[in-house]
Order: sequence, then structure tokens, then C-alpha cells
Amino acid sequence: MSKIELLQQSPAWARLQEHQHHWQGTLQELFAEDPQRAHNMVVQACGIRLDFSKNWLRQETLALLLALARERQLPERREALFAGEKVNVTEQRAAMHMALRAPAGSSMWVDGVNVVPGVHEVLTKMASFVERVHSGEWQGVTGKVLRHIVNIGIGGSYLGPEMAYHALRSCRHPGIREYFVANVDGAALAQVLAELDPAATLFIISSKTFTTLETMTNAKMARAWLVAALGEEAVARHFVAVSTNLEAVRAFGMDPEHSFAFWDWVGGRYSMDSAIGLATMLAIGPQAFGNMLAGFHAMDQHFLTAPLEGNLPVLLGLLAVWYNNFWGAQSQAILPYAHDLARFPAYLQQLVMESNGKRVDLEGRPLGVNSAPVIWGEPGTDAQHSFFQLLHQGTRLIPCDLLGFIKSLSPSQQQHDLLMANYIAQSEALAFGRSAEELRAAQVPEDLIPHRVTPGNRPHNLLLVDALTPYSLGALVALYEHSVFTQGVIWNIDSFDQWGVELGKILAQRVETDIMGTTQHAHDPSTQALIALYRQGRD
Ligand code: F6P
Repeated sequence: MSKIELLQQSPAWARLQEHQHHWQGTLQELFAEDPQRAHNMVVQACGIRLDFSKNWLRQETLALLLALARERQLPERREALFAGEKVNVTEQRAAMHMALRAPAGSSMWVDGVNVVPGVHEVLTKMASFVERVHSGEWQGVTGKVLRHIVNIGIGGSYLGPEMAYHALRSCRHPGIREYFVANVDGAALAQVLAELDPAATLFIISSKTFTTLETMTNAKMARAWLVAALGEEAVARHFVAVSTNLEAVRAFGMDPEHSFAFWDWVGGRYSMDSAIGLATMLAIGPQAFGNMLAGFHAMDQHFLTAPLEGNLPVLLGLLAVWYNNFWGAQSQAILPYAHDLARFPAYLQQLVMESNGKRVDLEGRPLGVNSAPVIWGEPGTDAQHSFFQLLHQGTRLIPCDLLGFIKSLSPSQQQHDLLMANYIAQSEALAFGRSAEELRAAQVPEDLIPHRVTPGNRPHNLLLVDALTPYSLGALVALYEHSVFTQGVIWNIDSFDQWGVELGKILAQRVETDIMGTTQHAHDPSTQALIALYRQGRD
């Protein structure tokens, strides 16, 4: 891959800085300038309508952002991604999550091997297992059907399945209940186990590496709980594993026959559609899982083939760069107007911040500009009654994505109408606010006017989808995955490694043995004092 010059030396970057420097115009003025704006700044693909008209953007801005994308070789880098090149340069790995949703019979190559047949082999094994659990053919050791599924995993081995379980509530198998345990805090597992009947419980130990401390600790505790209730022979019927490391699965005492594989070219945060999605498939069944994969795949194809100016992930990614790097936005809010998407912001936190929270470029040179924004958010309308005050009248620039769905999946159409009225009204308020003149006309006392003015001009994207289905969820996740990739290409960073989380893991192991008293590592005085205080207190 050719060396890409530093961003500070990029001509397109400089032109965008200049453009921003001379920027004038509020959203209100932008709409007045161009009566067609509401139509011209809408792009639709894979059932997702992106309205980006309420952004600080003119056609000229868009052209400059697209020029930046071309200068940073986005089309070439996208080709390299899909060709299975080792785009994760620090780990010398491909990032071929697109193969996880490639249709049977198609080809995607990693190291000269077509990986699609292997993907479908695992999908078939998962489907057969799920059908056996659903039908009751796969029973617990006492002959009970297994209806409580506990997914033990953390990070990418947790956030995706948990998010999807909630998101796809409307198509869940009626008898199956799922629980997710990630935190090494014993409270997480204890709270879940307290509700469960061991004889009806299936544990999925989900870990790409099968070495992650939190997951291995929780897995051991769960195993002990099961063995205490049902004996050692219960383990084989009540535990399955999902991992790339089948050796470690065996070493843990689990039968690799009862495990589901994936591959090192799947990053943890890009794995919800791999075997890590076993909990999802158990919840919604193989057919709906297939529909989710079809949504992912449709967005992959759109990203790969659509011209940049009509390409949803490219536009979303470039808009994020625009605010992040040219307007100094520190964060971005994700606001789903769908209760079932309550965990979507948390899912995106790992996807965006673990992927793009980087400080050097691919060549190891300091970036010199900001990389990933802080991602946060909550579902509307709850969020309106907590932090929207700051969005409407605070002093910070916080670009938002508002996600809405036309069809209701809850029994009450009236409630959905209200929800969507809020989605639409909040966008209107964010963009256009309420001026002092309007308040005066409404007889608001003069001394209250400064407090009540809502300036508007708050930029945001509106994502609108027909309904929250497995297909649309797949398309949405892939949209953000490729938007993250687009941003990573602009910054020329490795979006697929995560070295920043390693140090804490190593230090925690040293501190743990110091707490046990088996070692006495050298630490700074504050750390030393904390260890001593904790040891004293726990004893
Ligand atoms: O610590 C970060 C991380 O490596 C994530 O990237 C990953 O999703 C998570 O830990 C869990 O890792 P594993 O699936 O190997 O247990």
C-alpha cells in the first residue's frame, strides 16, 4: 500500500480548512438558499434513508470532502479491504468481516483461500444446533429442554449479541430467554444465575481468543454452579463454545465438537454476524439470522459499488470527519427512536472508539489531528428528558444521528405516532430552534427571553428505516462499520487493532498477584498505597 502523506500536508485538507474558515450561514439560511435542499441531500440504500440536509454543508463542502476521500485513496483502500489484504497492518491480518455475510457460492479470498465455504459450514452447524435446541432434541442432562441461554463474553463477544437480542425482540422465539454476562464483577453472574434453573440453562462461552480474563473467570464460576447442581457429566450438554482458538476450548475442558469456529480475520467488534451471533440465532432462528446477514451483505455491496457521492457509509464517515476535524466537535450522539435499540449506542461505542481511537497513522507517525470522537447516546424519548437540554441550549457542538422507524413493532400505533412525532419535532427544534422574535410574539416576558431562546442550527443526520427487522439491523450495523472504515482511511490509521487495551490487562494481572501477596511489584506511590489499603480492608 502506498505511503500516504500526513494530513497536515494534504491539499484537500487545507482547502477544507479554508472553506471552514470562511463559513457563513445557519441551517435556516442554508435552507433558504436552496429550496431543493431537502430533496438534494437525501440518499437511500438498502432500505435506509439518510437525510443529511440538516448539516453545515453546501454542495461545495461535499465536493471538498469527496476530494479529500479520493486524495486519501478511499476507493483503492476499499478495494484492498474487500480483496482480503492485510489492512490490519500491526497484526498482519485481513479484516474480512464482509465474508461472514457473503452468500453461499460466492468467493472472498484471504491468503489465497476462498473463505466463504468455511463460513457457510459454520452457519449450517449453528443452524442445526439451534434447531435441535428449539425442537427439544438437544436437552439438558436431566431431559429438560433448554430455554435459558447465558452468553458469557465481553467486548465484541458480548455487545453485538446483547444489542441484537434487544433489537430483534419482535422476532424472538417465544420460549427462549437470554442473559448476557460480561463484567468480571461477580455481581453480574450472580444476578443472572439467581433467576435460573440449571437443568434448563445453556451457557455459550464466547471469546475470540478464549483467554480473556473476565470471560474465563465467569465461565469457570458458571461451570462450578452447574456442576454443583447437576454433576460433572452435565457440562457437555449445558456448555458450548464460540472461538477462533479451539485448542484453548479443549484445554478448558470443553468438547471442540460442541464449539463453533470463526477466524482471525474477524475482529471482535466486527463479529456479531459470525458464530459469536450464536445467541442471536438461538433467539431469532436461522432464517431470521439469514435475513440479518442479507442486510449486512446488501450494505457491503452498496459501500463497494455505489459512487462516493451517493454512498451512505462514505457520506456518514465524511460528515463525522467534517465536524470532528474542521469544527472541533469532541463527541457524537447516537439517538435511536426505538426502545429496542437501547443498546445500539453502547455497541457503536466499541465499534467506533476501539477501531478509531488511535494516535498514530499506519506508518507510526503521530496523527497531529483528532481521531475518533466520543460516542454516546440513549434512546429517544428518554434522552429528551435528560440531556437534550444541553443539545438544544448548551455551548458545545455535538453532531447527532437520529434513527427512526416508520412501522411500529409494538401493539399501540398511537404510541408509535407519538414516538415519531418526537423524532420529527426534535429534528425541527435542533435545526431551527425558537428565536427571540417568536418568543416576543408569544408574549414571553422580556427578562425570560434570553433563557428561552433556542438557537437551533444544531447539525444532525436523520436515518429513517421502514421497520426494525433483522435485515434492516444488518444493514444499519454494516453502514456504521463502513463509516468507521471511511474515517479510518481519512486519518490513515489501523482501524482493526486495539493495542490500547493491552496495558491495563497486563497491569491488572500484576496487581492481582500483589493483592494475593505472592508478588511485590514496584509501583508508583499512589498505586502502592491503594494496593496496601485494599489488602488491609479485604483481610
Ligand atoms: O480488550 C478488548 C478486546 O480484545 C476486544 O477487542 C474484544 O472484543 C474483547 O476484548 C473480547 O475478546 P475475546 O473475544 O477474545 O474474549
